[in-house]
Amino acid sequence: MSMASMAEKAMAYLESAGKLTEDSLKDYIPEETETPKSLHSAMRYALLIGGKRLRPALALASYEFFNGKPSESIRLAMCALEMLHTFSLIHDDLPCMDDDDFRRGKPSTHKVYGEAAAILAGDALCIFAFELISRTGNAAVVEELARSLGTKGMIGGQIIDIESEGKSVDLATVDYIHYHKTAALIEASLVTGALLAGAKKEDLEHIREFGKGIGLVFQIVDDILDIESSTEKLGKKTGSDIKKGKATYPAVLGLDASKKKAVELYNESLAFLEKFGNRNTDTFRNIAALIIERSY
Ligand code: IPE
Ligand code: IPE
Ligand code: MG
Ligand code: MG
Ligand code: MG
Repeated sequence: MSMASMAEKAMAYLESAGKLTEDSLKDYIPEETETPKSLHSAMRYALLIGGKRLRPALALASYEFFNGKPSESIRLAMCALEMLHTFSLIHDDLPCMDDDDFRRGKPSTHKVYGEAAAILAGDALCIFAFELISRTGNAAVVEELARSLGTKGMIGGQIIDIESEGKSVDLATVDYIHYHKTAALIEASLVTGALLAGAKKEDLEHIREFGKGIGLVFQIVDDILDIESSTEKLGKKTGSDIKKGKATYPAVLGLDASKKKAVELYNESLAFLEKFGNRNTDTFRNIAALIIERSY
């Protein structure tokens, strides 16, 4: 099958996982009419204006692969993952961080609700995600997600990203940033689905390595799209990395070598799926194809 048709299949999978996530999110997040109204309104805005819903889809794909049956637990986890990701986006766009005015095709949360409400909405989404995930009763999942977001995960990556602005950095630093700020949560999404389905220890390690690889590819492609795509397509301002002197793959390697590296890492990630023998890994392969082929 061609890469394009695999990516198309993955789009359909993301759409249905996204629908399941959105339906559940609407149930879990308090209504805008509930006090504190502005905060609930900002949380719903940031979450429901769009997004590819990649992380919930990865959790579901992994859960299904390890024979998890439809359950409240996986829905809670999918919602928690999207909330955690959205929390990271709201804070990433703040004036003191990347200072971006557009997200998911709409004004960023702080442009609509102000900075204080945006910071608090991000905080509240993070806390609420842990409330939901704890309802699964699976302590390993709580630990996995906490670790993927803390100083050894997303937040650790974000601080080095900010501190590296305007500096010339080496590839090891960019790898550190990209792995921590982005790949860690993508990896944790796959591991979460596997843990909830009761996957074996060695299978957890294989799925973790696959996630780490495609997570890194995801951020390299994000860097490339910031140069090559359009604001309309992406729903966020392009060209902002160069303007801010961000530590990106293209900044260190150039565009062509970055593309080559993405393909190399994509192939390395797929190799981890070989460890599953003759089990059907098509959904993972389709999503990986989408990650490298995507134009938004
Ligand atoms: C954007 O993530 C931030 C990065 C980690 C590069 P996505 O590209 O998954 O954003 P949405 O959820 O589709 O808006
Ligand atoms: C963001 O990386 C990663 C997180 C939000 C944790 P970027 O700063 O490159 O993401 P975009 O391009 O603003 O979506
Ligand atoms: Mg950023
Ligand atoms: Mg940003
Ligand atoms: Mg970016």
